Amino acid sequence: MLVFVGCASAYGSTRRIAERIARQLRSDGHDTVLRPLDRAAGLPGCDAAVLGSAVHGGRWLPDAVEFVRRNAGALAARPVGLFSVSLVGERSSAFPSPVARGLRRLKARSASELPADLLAAIAPVGRHDFAGAVAPEHWPATGRLVFRLMGGRYGEHTDWDEVDAWAAVIAARVSGRPPE
Ligand SMILES: Cc1cc2nc3c(=O)[nH]c(=O)nc-3n(C[C@H](O)[C@H](O)[C@H](O)COP(=O)(O)O)c2cc1C
Repeated sequence: MLVFVGCASAYGSTRRIAERIARQLRSDGHDTVLRPLDRAAGLPGCDAAVLGSAVHGGRWLPDAVEFVRRNAGALAARPVGLFSVSLVGERSSAFPSPVARGLRRLKARSASELPADLLAAIAPVGRHDFAGAVAPEHWPATGRLVFRLMGGRYGEHTDWDEVDAWAAVIAARVSGRPPE
């Protein structure tokens, strides 16, 4: 299958995760088209899609939401995997474990990072939250203070084994195979 892998990234970590997912999809026998969502017009000729965005203020970046809205019909007609990149992934985080656990609980109770109508329309075959990278220059002074008070650590927090494992599951789901 030809799988469209689209990403919206402000500082590069979502882009790196998208590249890694595309690599895993290819090693599972798919062809891939990798595109930044601010420049992608659509999903030309693709049988499936994996879309990811950095999370700012609890939401996907506007370019990613806009892409999903414009292509909702095409996405609804294909198998789609969605991933979000923030400071708190499902397995790793920029914060110490107790803080990360609290943030995951909070996230489970809050609105999703994509508008609910779009999520319902797409009905993704899989969703995942990964931790990305963070640097002091990404934040204003108040953000740096809050981050420090929460025990946050700068650097890259992505668990690459987690990325590969999820990509393998998605590679199987988009082609209707049970995962190995
Ligand atoms: C302005 C701004 C707002 C952010 N808001 C959130 C947030 O609400 N929740 C969160 O967990 N991380 C938040 N982050 C952290 C980013 O999601 C994280 O650094 C991610 O790895 C960025 O991906 P990117 O490198 O592809 O831009 C924010 C970062 C910035 C710069």
